[in-house]
Amino acid sequence: MLGNFCYSNPTTLYFGDKALDNLKKELVHYGEKIQLVYGGGSIKKNGIYDQIISILQEAGKTIIEDGGVMPNPTIEKVYEGSKLACQNQVDLILAVGGGSVCDYAKAVSVSAYCEKDPWDTYFLQMKKVDNAVIPVGCVLTMVGTGSEMNGGAVITNHEQKLKIGRVFGPAVFPKFSILNPVFTFTVPRYQMVAGIYDIMSHILEQYFSGQDDNTSDYISEGLLKSLIYSSRIAVEHPCDYEARSNIMWIASWALNTLIAKGKSTDWMVHMLGQAVAAYTDGTHGMTLSSVSMPYYRFILPYGLKKFKRYAQHVWDVRTENKSDEEIAGEGLDRMEAYLKEIGCVMSIKDFGVTADMMEDICDSVFILKGGYHVLTREDVIRILTESLC
Ligand code: NZQ
Ligand code: ZN
Repeated sequence: MLGNFCYSNPTTLYFGDKALDNLKKELVHYGEKIQLVYGGGSIKKNGIYDQIISILQEAGKTIIEDGGVMPNPTIEKVYEGSKLACQNQVDLILAVGGGSVCDYAKAVSVSAYCEKDPWDTYFLQMKKVDNAVIPVGCVLTMVGTGSEMNGGAVITNHEQKLKIGRVFGPAVFPKFSILNPVFTFTVPRYQMVAGIYDIMSHILEQYFSGQDDNTSDYISEGLLKSLIYSSRIAVEHPCDYEARSNIMWIASWALNTLIAKGKSTDWMVHMLGQAVAAYTDGTHGMTLSSVSMPYYRFILPYGLKKFKRYAQHVWDVRTENKSDEEIAGEGLDRMEAYLKEIGCVMSIKDFGVTADMMEDICDSVFILKGGYHVLTREDVIRILTESLC
């Protein structure tokens, strides 16, 4: 049964191949100093950087460059960016890139005026933000995380071997995000597929919880069907605008709080994948795909009814003369075949994980309790070992 909740999303989205035309009118709301955040250089190669610079210059802005944000952004980089933001008293942080760049921008926005250590305060202790927050705007170039329309920021601390996701409140959501599907055409295939599975995983993490009849689950099933259909086209034809635009739109709805309404939500695939990434720096979506099948096969008996529904509603499994277990299992078989078809990583071996690393990785897994089964340490070892085979 749907309980009590509030739904509001403060991010304004501009979508479509003309979406960047809206940047100028958004810039009017902010002061002169813009911290321009971007990654390792893809935006310089594909021409997006030049387009942004010319819009900022035309608007009379002073640009404070902050490039070099790495995939799986580190806390060291956040310290650097925060110093830059604070010293320059920037008025807006403009993130141009994928989830890593957007997450980093949000982490800097809360850290710049934090008087204590932001890693300790906002990621380890998860304290409420009580200092000034710098507004963030995004121009998205890679699809998957949903960071363009949520308060999430995932930061890695290599020294502590921890990758922690923090969900901040509405003040940290991007004020606006610009989504032009054409900007994603140059994303390498491996990253595109990682993003596609990240979207699928976000939906499943919310879907596989609860036993009630919840509208959020019907929305999730629709999003999943659209994603499966469009992703098959996109892997064959990366420049298919229709497919890429659908995937972009699904990604935002997969993790902007809508389909979590009335749900306890699971998120254990992310906890397992993030622990693997903390040790290997593996690409986010691929770390998720590498642990998903062993995890879902393991929890299937605890959430049988939902896995049966998933098989029927999403994978069109026929039910005649089959037990519930057979129907649910066939759904997971079809999911596994799809992951292999689009090119997902299916084993943590591919990130260099070996059996002797298992106990340490297990130490980095945060156990959450919203899904169908609360994992024990032995369960975690079993799932990770399964993925190693
Ligand atoms: O750094 P550059 O040179 O820009 O290259 C990037 C990067 O190497 C490249 N890329 C991006 N747009 C491109 C492009 N290359 C060519 N053309 C373009 N248009 O793609 C590579 C990956 O980029 P990244 O931003 O790391 O990927 P993604 O969007 O998947 O973000 C991953 C990060 O987001 C976190 C992940 O943990 C990971 O750290 N997540 C954030 C979430 C959130 N905020 O809610 C939730 C997610 O579950 C996730 O945890
Ligand atoms: Zn994710």
